Amino acid sequence: MSTENDHIKWFRNSSPYINAHRAKTFVIYLGGEAIEHANYSNLINDIALLNSLGVKLVIVHGADPQITQSLTEQHVQWPMSGNTPVTTPEILAKILAPIGTTRTRIEASLSKGHASIHTQMLVTGGNFVTAKPMGIMDGTDFHHTGTTRRVNKAAIVSQLEHQAIVVVSPIGHSPSGETFVLDARQLAHNVARTLEAEKLIYFSSDDGIRDHDGVLINEITEVNDLSFQDPEHQNLAKLSIAACLSGVKRCHVINYKSDGALLEELFTRDGSGTQIIQESYEKLRTARPDDVAGIIELISPLEHEGILVKRSRELIESELDHFRIIERDGMIVACAALYPFQSQGELACLATHPEYRNDNRGELLLQSIESSARDLGLKSLFVLTTQAVHWFIERGFEELPIDTLPEDRFYNFQRNSKYLKKAL
Ligand SMILES: CC(C)(COP(=O)(O)OP(=O)(O)OC[C@H]1O[C@@H](n2cnc3c(N)ncnc32)[C@H](O)[C@@H]1OP(=O)(O)O)[C@@H](O)C(=O)NCCC(=O)NCCS
Repeated sequence: MSTENDHIKWFRNSSPYINAHRAKTFVIYLGGEAIEHANYSNLINDIALLNSLGVKLVIVHGADPQITQSLTEQHVQWPMSGNTPVTTPEILAKILAPIGTTRTRIEASLSKGHASIHTQMLVTGGNFVTAKPMGIMDGTDFHHTGTTRRVNKAAIVSQLEHQAIVVVSPIGHSPSGETFVLDARQLAHNVARTLEAEKLIYFSSDDGIRDHDGVLINEITEVNDLSFQDPEHQNLAKLSIAACLSGVKRCHVINYKSDGALLEELFTRDGSGTQIIQESYEKLRTARPDDVAGIIELISPLEHEGILVKRSRELIESELDHFRIIERDGMIVACAALYPFQSQGELACLATHPEYRNDNRGELLLQSIESSARDLGLKSLFVLTTQAVHWFIERGFEELPIDTLPEDRFYNFQRNSKYLKKAL
């Protein structure tokens, strides 16, 4: 029974994330190693689940182990110059097959029926990536090893609009009709920044990015002077940071070996791997029309508990200008409203999502409401509360008799709220 309750709790707690992620674009890097791993089918199930929740998905796949295996079977090696492969015309002819086979495997696994999904998913691809040759560097001709020249944003977006999952292979063609092999991690970065994706998710063989002592880093926010011991971590951190600087909201590095890591990262507060963000992703701002659903999501559990007064959707819509919210990664985690009554202001509907409490958000909203009230020339701020009396007293409010409430402010005697006031 307790496990059952855990699931119910988990599901309830994840609902704000479900709403926040809906219709957002996520670019997922899926390396060839992940496709070979025993956890791959779980991973695909979770990707299918994201699709069914309305997330727009682009999968950029790699195929390194598949290419290596195919070349080994043909007694050929992919020559390297430093860390970069040199793709001669002979090698290109041999590696297009394993890349194609890997892509087909992804398409097949996404086309399979999934326990969580009843409708068949549409998987699509195309010549979305224009490539150019890497050229000759330090005397080495890289032949068909290329770099991204352009990603066709409009074409990908139009596929995503039709709920298709777009699969991008690590190859691109030049306007002259030549084919180039691309670095899949870099390609995922390029696709994400072109699409200005909400998220770029790298599946890695480790739980995330580790510091010099091997400790997993949960969140990277400082973008300067980062260095990591592991070259793969260094590369993923570099690509992620650059993506964030180019407009991708957030990047994640998570473990493809760990069952459920993707869902844990996306639907829980603490996540499972490392997330990389450019700057504080929380914003305190005035509410906008598209915030109504998020505000309702935040306050309705408190209304059901009787902590806040019930407000209809229509009322919130009509009084939206009064609301101030804190947005975190597309989700509204706290809100408050200010209503002027002659020379006084009422602070109402102050709420912080239970998972985001005790981090000063209530205090920040109070300060913001106080400052707006002062700007409006109001002399004091009052609040009617049943549960947070001490919270307000600790912030300079004083309890007053109900009969001193502004005359035009209706008082519901059944709620028996306390009336507290603070001079501004
Ligand atoms: C009151 C509320 C908005 C505070 O949000 P928050 O983002 O956690 O606020 P802050 O982080 O600025 O403040 C947290 C501090 O207040 C304390 N606190 C939280 N709720 C409290 C309460 N009801 N009474 C007294 N103290 C309280 C916390 O213990 C913490 O103190 P600490 O750091 O000393 O431990 C939040 O608890 C909430 O949403 N409550 C339900 C709605 C409500 O009652 N709203 C007020 C009516 S308009």
